[in-house]
Amino acid sequence: MPTASQHPHSSVGDGAEYTLAVLGFGKLASAIVSGCITTGFLKASDVAVWARSDARMAQAHALGLKLVDMNTCAHSGAALLLSIKPQFFSEIAPQLCVPANTNVISVMAGWTTEGIQARLKVNHVIRAMPNVAAQVRAAVTALSITKECPITAREFAIKLFTCVGRVEQLHESHLDAVTAISGSGIAYLCLFMESLERAAIQLGLPHEVARSLTNDVLHGVAASASAGTLDMATLRASVTSPHGTTAAALAVLNEGEFSQLITRAAQAAKNRAVELGQTHT
Ligand SMILES: NC(=O)c1ccc[n+]([C@@H]2O[C@H](COP(=O)([O-])OP(=O)(O)OC[C@H]3O[C@@H](n4cnc5c(N)ncnc54)[C@H](OP(=O)(O)O)[C@@H]3O)[C@@H](O)[C@H]2O)c1
Repeated sequence: MPTASQHPHSSVGDGAEYTLAVLGFGKLASAIVSGCITTGFLKASDVAVWARSDARMAQAHALGLKLVDMNTCAHSGAALLLSIKPQFFSEIAPQLCVPANTNVISVMAGWTTEGIQARLKVNHVIRAMPNVAAQVRAAVTALSITKECPITAREFAIKLFTCVGRVEQLHESHLDAVTAISGSGIAYLCLFMESLERAAIQLGLPHEVARSLTNDVLHGVAASASAGTLDMATLRASVTSPHGTTAAALAVLNEGEFSQLITRAAQAAKNRAVELGQTHT
């Protein structure tokens, strides 16, 4: 079995058996690990996994990953990805014996680097806030990396999340806002698309046409946003002729204070993230 120090991507956590150990193997962790293998950043044999359920362990086995128990997982990786549900962490942290120089990377919402460091007694923690688009390698991940973090650990984390999308490095004080925008924001857009699709059906379009038109609208807007040549306000203005069809629809949305509603929704998500952070310190 390769040791971490033999592996080209791992230069932290000398003596660890695997480049990456993964604690919790739900939607997010499986997407990240799959992305790393698909892009060739990691080999399946570089990764050890523990998950609570047999079903998740079977998924990890199918990817060729090494299955280990919870305690082995805690000390077998040069890097340790914490991807269990946040509310479960306080319960298991006292049972985990993590070597102090492990490159601990947490995606757990609400757990601060300070809180994790205190529970695990490790030298440094990198906090990451990706989103579920990691499943299609189109995530954006905010990474908060402290000054104490060794450069090799920092580079590893950046490469890990680049395998599933784009990485944005930010101070930890911004992570609650990031959670509200890119973490939860996917759900806001999903709700908008579900609503548009339902409206299309009510206007008499066949179900499959309603769905494909809705998806195409989103693709079109996303392509324009990615091209970066037009900001959203300019694009919106360009399809809104005075007294035209779009203007009629936007008048209804403005009447319902659509824009303010989104601001309130994002604020509620941020408040909840702050609240969760306070319970987890
Ligand atoms: N999904 C997102 O968009 C997203 C975005 C940013 C951050 N996150 C964070 O990523 C982490 C994982 O999220 P996910 O979406 O991958 O969730 P998920 O699919 O539900 O997977 C969660 C993992 O945690 C385990 N788990 C949950 N409760 C447990 C308990 N009481 N005891 C032991 N294990 C338990 C699950 O175990 P089983 O094996 O029993 O299923 C599973 O392996 C969370 O901390 C979340 O805050 C998620």
